[in-house]
Amino acid sequence: MKVSIIGGGGLVGSSAGFALQCGGVVREIAMLDVNAQAAEGHALDLLHGGPSTADQRIVSGGYEHVPDSDVICITAGLRRKPDESRLDLINRNTDLFLSILDGVCSAGVKSSAIVMVVSNPVDILTYLAAKRVGLPCSQVIGLGTQLDTIRFRSLIAQQLKAPPTQLSALILGEHGDSMVPIWSSATVAGLPLDKMPGWSPALAAELFKRTKGSGAEVIAKKGGAGFAVGIAIRDVIEAIALDQQRILPVSSVQDGCYGIRDVALSVPTVVGRAGVVARHEIELWPKEVQGLRNSGNVLRQTLQTVLARVGG
Ligand code: 2OP
Repeated sequence: MKVSIIGGGGLVGSSAGFALQCGGVVREIAMLDVNAQAAEGHALDLLHGGPSTADQRIVSGGYEHVPDSDVICITAGLRRKPDESRLDLINRNTDLFLSILDGVCSAGVKSSAIVMVVSNPVDILTYLAAKRVGLPCSQVIGLGTQLDTIRFRSLIAQQLKAPPTQLSALILGEHGDSMVPIWSSATVAGLPLDKMPGWSPALAAELFKRTKGSGAEVIAKKGGAGFAVGIAIRDVIEAIALDQQRILPVSSVQDGCYGIRDVALSVPTVVGRAGVVARHEIELWPKEVQGLRNSGNVLRQTLQTVLARVGG
């Protein structure tokens, strides 16, 4: 499977390329960026590691790589400032994103291609891509709250001194300020989280607050996320490449799950080679469903503002 990373010259895109190389599943990685020199540099750096990782083709270039790509991953965008919300980014990044989409459409995409959106605000841009790229909405996936979910799991595991891979907890809704912690299904090795020694509602609130602020925290410390967002991107792309049918909290245009429509956000989504294969409207606590619907309302308000400006 061939993956083109538009934004491959930047921190997020190059981290995604490295994660995909270490995963060894995809067969070709193309690094595309307006900063061609940076894309070439990251591709060369990845190439050098090939003999000790996987037999993959690693290239750089422009939109000529789009037509034969199975996944087109768009990470390009301006990073948030530490005190800036993701939605504040919207006007700056929407125009850039739409120009990238125009380039993708002009180059042409396979009818089976999956467009994966990472650029922020990811839920808004996922909706725009789904409406403009000329593929079924099910073939447009946003990274959504997959990154928030692994952050959430990592912080809870660190607090409980539990193995991170055995910590199951979910974030759904907006990849942003209205994201929703799903405590109702959180477990450590299948054991209920809230029965763990030392657990308390106060601790739960503190861990969720830190999760929600993790993007800004990393930006303040090192300028922006790289390693974890690259891993989260790899989780989704390898589920596509291997047709794993994994249930992942990724963003897509909703058509009724939890009563939410006409907006893109993250719900439990079965991801396979066809993209969004299905969604699971698992039973949640009433306040969790309410939080999800609030996410939908927050995003829909912003979306209407954006659509009024850019049309569509
Ligand atoms: C983050 O939360 C890049 O939006 C991403 O760090």
